[in-house]
Amino acid sequence: MSEKDVSSLTEEYAKAELERLSSVLSVANRAYHTQDAPELSDAEYDALKRRNTAIETAFPHLKHVDSPSEQVGGPVNETFSKVTHAVRMMSLANAFDDNDVREFEDTVRRYLGLQKDAPLAFTAEPKIDGLSLSLRYEDGRLVQAATRGDGATGENVTANALTIADIPKQVSDAPAIMEIRGEVYMSHADFAALNARAEASGGKSFANPRNAAAGSLRQLDAEITRARPLRFFAYAWGELSEPLADTQNGAIERMAKLGFKTNELTKRCQSAEEVLRHYASIEEQRALLGYDIDGVVYKVDDLEYQRRLGFRSATPRWAIAHKFQAELAWTELLGIDIQVGRTGALSPVARLKPVTVGGVVVSNATLHNEDYIAGRGADGQEIRNGKDIRVGDWVQVYRAGDVIPKVADVDLSKRSNGQPYVFPQKCPECGSDAVREQGDAIRRCTGGIICPAQTVEKLKHFVSRAAFDIDGLGAKQVEMFFADQALPIREPADIFTLAERDAGNVSKLANRDGFGTKSVKNLFQAIEEKRKIPLERLIFALGIRHVGESAAKLLAANYVTWPNFEHAMTHAQIGDGPDWVALNAIDGVGHVLAASVVTAFQQEQERASIDRLVAQLNVQDAVQRGSADSPVAGKTVVFTGTLEKMTRAEAKARAEALGAKVAGSVSAKTDLLVAGPGAGSKAKKAADLGIETIDEDGWLTLIGEA
Ligand code: IVH
Repeated sequence: MSEKDVSSLTEEYAKAELERLSSVLSVANRAYHTQDAPELSDAEYDALKRRNTAIETAFPHLKHVDSPSEQVGGPVNETFSKVTHAVRMMSLANAFDDNDVREFEDTVRRYLGLQKDAPLAFTAEPKIDGLSLSLRYEDGRLVQAATRGDGATGENVTANALTIADIPKQVSDAPAIMEIRGEVYMSHADFAALNARAEASGGKSFANPRNAAAGSLRQLDAEITRARPLRFFAYAWGELSEPLADTQNGAIERMAKLGFKTNELTKRCQSAEEVLRHYASIEEQRALLGYDIDGVVYKVDDLEYQRRLGFRSATPRWAIAHKFQAELAWTELLGIDIQVGRTGALSPVARLKPVTVGGVVVSNATLHNEDYIAGRGADGQEIRNGKDIRVGDWVQVYRAGDVIPKVADVDLSKRSNGQPYVFPQKCPECGSDAVREQGDAIRRCTGGIICPAQTVEKLKHFVSRAAFDIDGLGAKQVEMFFADQALPIREPADIFTLAERDAGNVSKLANRDGFGTKSVKNLFQAIEEKRKIPLERLIFALGIRHVGESAAKLLAANYVTWPNFEHAMTHAQIGDGPDWVALNAIDGVGHVLAASVVTAFQQEQERASIDRLVAQLNVQDAVQRGSADSPVAGKTVVFTGTLEKMTRAEAKARAEALGAKVAGSVSAKTDLLVAGPGAGSKAKKAADLGIETIDEDGWLTLIGEA
């Protein structure tokens, strides 16, 4: 290829050259990812990309929207592309002490219906403090690497993963489709050297190896990642075209054979007592390992048991992370700030003299609520031996993993003349009365929508990741728009009228500092895309007290359409009537949650704001979970009596996975009663109501598992 020097190119030539480079690079990209042999060597490919970037720099106006430099691996300033995980990346439930671990074993046994003396093995392995990565191999070749992200979608960091020596680029004797998951981390020695280099060159240093690993992996320029000493341990998997083994331990051994680094402290144990001994041994070696770990992970070894145990909403039932004791530090309490949350809760925050706890500088910590400051729990029980916390005190702060720092203790010997802290009785943001309901430890602002803090926090929740997740509209932008005079966003509906209001506005967004035509266009497009919203996200986004992600999912699955849900909530009378009974019959919905949702729909102002919002949206009906063609999808099922082939918990989880709703009691809305031996009043009631009743075998036949 004879190439002209970029500085001598005419505009016309540059344009043609960019087109040529774009097509050569996209062919090369496709060849690289889907065929066995790449068409270009790495060096040739890199040279073409560099030329493309050089021409774009010299002629910025010629840059294409789908320029090759925008693709992963290019030295670009855009974000990573997104990857939808074929199998969700889960996190782990935590155990904080030995009893939590014994409880874990008991729960697994109960769920599987295993007697106390039946064999049940676990693996125990260090919990590496880094960030998880999913590696996809097709026909033995690494084709994609993605971060965990929100578990469903992560970031495509393939170009970066290719630079990590511990990650095999090619494997043999592997399943045709194989996703290997594990942890990217940095060793203590490499971390210290990296920070020393950064400091010597006047750069910013990282707070801890984990931040360094995350910062290094998430570089848009893979060449920077290459220069960072990242490592990788494999410990799990995602999609597989065939199983790796029958056991967790076998799968780890198979991964090691395939060329992955696996942790040598992984051990197969026969009981909770044995895993606890291994925990103690790992904790003893912790300081000598040369990399950070923050606990030990236990997994049920038998993969058939793992399959039966399945998952809760975000964590497997077959694994638990046993965390190490939190690290502690003493520091001075400089002041107490009160933050007002979206439900009006007044949360006290300790302002601390900055102190390093477990490798991170801490200058704020939660103080929970006024009872906590006073040294009493919500139940009236003393905490910290009844010691209250006063401004000026020396306090002990702890931090466990990512958990928000907390104040654990007070050194009374260092107390001078601090006065007991008086918790405000008025909202510091809007001046409304702040009251405590009986039995509630939290004092709440009664200002409702007149309280700016509540409104802003509600809006932040509305745009958050699990809710509307609007690109370019995060917490910072929400605060800005809330305060904006010309183009205010004061309630969720305002987000969806923003573009329209902007069009006729003298103070157009595109003309403001910090915004450009392109970013405004992207923002409006991102908003436009979210008009179409799944019912469960909408319900969660409303920010109704007690309605978290899983409650929102339950409600959506149960009511399926917005009009249905809205109608029921509008007509339900708290404590009475068919709509109220039906709402409370949803397994997982208690009275408190039910009352909170009904109240939200029946409060005039809140309701009007919801209506204005929904008028802007195209709400998607809830999809029946599980196979749409399952005969139990959408049905309300009640289990009663003794089940012999599965435990109650297993039956319920399986039914839900097939799209059925499982209720605790029989009502006119019940479609099916599954009755084992010993079924009593529920069977009689079902017979009275003419509800179909089958036994356990009938159920298994129905769901195709007989
Ligand atoms: S297993 C489905 N094993 O911990 C279970 N996770 O708190 C998948 N982690 O997101 C996780 N070491 O990033 C597993 N030996 C280990 C681990 C480990 C570290 C991380 C992982 C996960 C997080 C959950």
